[in-house]
Amino acid sequence: MNTGPLVARRGTPTPSFRAAAVDYKSLPKLELPALKAVPPVAVVKTPPMGWNSWNKFRTRINDQMIREIADAMVATGMRDAGYVYVNIDDGWQDKRDAAGVLQPNPNFPNMKALSDYVHSKGLKLGIYSSPGPTTCGGFTGSYGHEEIDAKTWAAWGIDYLKYDWCSASRVWKDEDMQAVYQRMGEALRKTGRPIVYALCQYGRIKVQDWGTKVGASLWRTTFDIRDQWASMEQIGFAQSDLAYASNPGSFNDPDMLEVGNGGMTPVEYRTHFSLWAMVASPLLTGNDIRTMDPATRDILLNKEVIAVNQDKLGKGGKRLAQQGSTEVWVKPLEKGAQAVALFNRGEAKAKVSVQWADLKLSGKVRIRDLWAHADVKTEAEGYSAEVEPHGVVLLKASK
Ligand code: GLA
Repeated sequence: MNTGPLVARRGTPTPSFRAAAVDYKSLPKLELPALKAVPPVAVVKTPPMGWNSWNKFRTRINDQMIREIADAMVATGMRDAGYVYVNIDDGWQDKRDAAGVLQPNPNFPNMKALSDYVHSKGLKLGIYSSPGPTTCGGFTGSYGHEEIDAKTWAAWGIDYLKYDWCSASRVWKDEDMQAVYQRMGEALRKTGRPIVYALCQYGRIKVQDWGTKVGASLWRTTFDIRDQWASMEQIGFAQSDLAYASNPGSFNDPDMLEVGNGGMTPVEYRTHFSLWAMVASPLLTGNDIRTMDPATRDILLNKEVIAVNQDKLGKGGKRLAQQGSTEVWVKPLEKGAQAVALFNRGEAKAKVSVQWADLKLSGKVRIRDLWAHADVKTEAEGYSAEVEPHGVVLLKASK
């Protein structure tokens, strides 16, 4: 599995709000809790859907644009398609006040008012921090302030926390990671608010095997995605082995979507979105919802593909067959149906086939093409399609 750098790519620095320099030698050591199973902080039966500020905006974020994004989530139909989380990533923080309460920087004058606004639109608000003294972008983290930060976020009306390892690697060893994440899980539980707890430690030390134990519902499985075919391909196609960990309340997170950010073709973005749907990834869009073009809308608002992702079984899709640069992936769906993705990772058009026997199906099988929005004619033994380079044909097979 891919694991990333301990301190991942940094954001655009906003020097005046950045954390004061940390003297790691004199940092007081925290007492870590004995490991136990923390119940989930929030009930998350299907992969969370929403938007996150990082991929497009880095730390160039403020109250006004978050409100505009919320408005656009409603106006474009994104909210009604299920994208309800509006998640502020790194860059909202300032310093702590005398009582130790972490303050938002002047770009976010009133977090409670912002969350009231987002909630009034039928959306939810997410936030970001780190178990280390500073975040990956160099802003103040939650080290030693877990309870007070959880309380602050609950009071603001926060619904989702992305908790990013970052500088914690300078304080803790990998072996401490579960207890460190449990510390925040317990702090969030204590608030009584169902805040979705999302871990971000780049897939280290088999997080998929202990993520739910710290109260989390999802965890990043890789280093950071970039808006390029090679990055998306490397991350997405590496998710097959993790499928076993995907269940209602337990989701692998191969990072946020780049659909609409301009670095891939519409064909590649369809592959990106299909693959993320197949592996039951959270669908957190990372583009500017206010200005997205029709091609981007068509992808993000494809309800049939979203339904694959949101299927109630919560199962992760995996690779069924691979031949050269073509791959067939399968995801079990409710009522005995299956999503079947025919991928072509190569540079030339290719024929990709699936046999009913491989899907353990026989007799008459109904096949629907989820990008063409049409039922398609099949052969007696299976189905074949010509797939564009870097493209996908995504099907739903049912009896
Ligand atoms: C890390 C994370 C990213 C983003 C940045 C913010 O790199 O993996 O998703 O949150 O930190 O600084």
